[in-house]
Amino acid sequence: MGVIEYLSGIGGVDEGTRGTVVNHRMREVTELVAEDGTWDESLAVEVRTLFDSLAPEWTATRDHPMRNAPLLDALERGAVEGHIVLELGAGTCISARDLVARYDRLLAADLSWGMLSHAVAGAPPLICADGSALPLADGTLDVLILQNMFLFAAEVDRCLAVGGCVVWVNSRGPETPIHLSCDAVVTALEVATGIGWRAVTSTVGEATWAVVRRAVA
Ligand SMILES: C[S@@+](CC[C@H](N)C(=O)[O-])C[C@H]1O[C@@H](n2cnc3c(N)ncnc32)[C@H](O)[C@@H]1O
Repeated sequence: MGVIEYLSGIGGVDEGTRGTVVNHRMREVTELVAEDGTWDESLAVEVRTLFDSLAPEWTATRDHPMRNAPLLDALERGAVEGHIVLELGAGTCISARDLVARYDRLLAADLSWGMLSHAVAGAPPLICADGSALPLADGTLDVLILQNMFLFAAEVDRCLAVGGCVVWVNSRGPETPIHLSCDAVVTALEVATGIGWRAVTSTVGEATWAVVRRAVA
């Protein structure tokens, strides 16, 4: 059973005015992917089609000044270090854009070309790829950022370097359509890999975050 350290929550501006309502189908897919590794071409088409359709409004409905406070807090209080960083499921890069100056090598990947084609100015290099099978060598990533994104646990483990970490953020906490608790993230990684994982977790306003590492680097 993974060890989870809970840090005090801090205040923040909530995202309650944002346009999206909870999408129960995406929650269902989130749990299928994390718990069973379920993913196939028909799911990929379903998810890509949904996010292609949301892409034109994504930035306008989400890019507010405090949007990245939870992610930045996770990087600071989660003691995240590293040089080679991927945000997977980066959407229109409203978060990745704010990390470009912070890392030597930052990439943003997404399944939806619609999302990437609406990427904001200042986005890092973009990759259109499926997170279930990333075009990366084993052990490449120091940091893998998954914000409101599915957890492909076995692929995460394959791509993470020794000592690397996953940064998991849900912008609206449990109200986020694509949400897993910290406990569920750790459990999914442990089931997929057969080794122990540990996490530090906290909240910023309604958002939740977790930084998750292998228990033994
Ligand atoms: C809820 S959006 C979050 C976007 C961004 N992280 C944000 O918080 O603004 C989920 C994103 O994950 C992408 N996505 C879903 N499944 C994926 C997969 N298998 N591989 C890569 N990206 C995927 C979607 O296309 C979408 O852009």
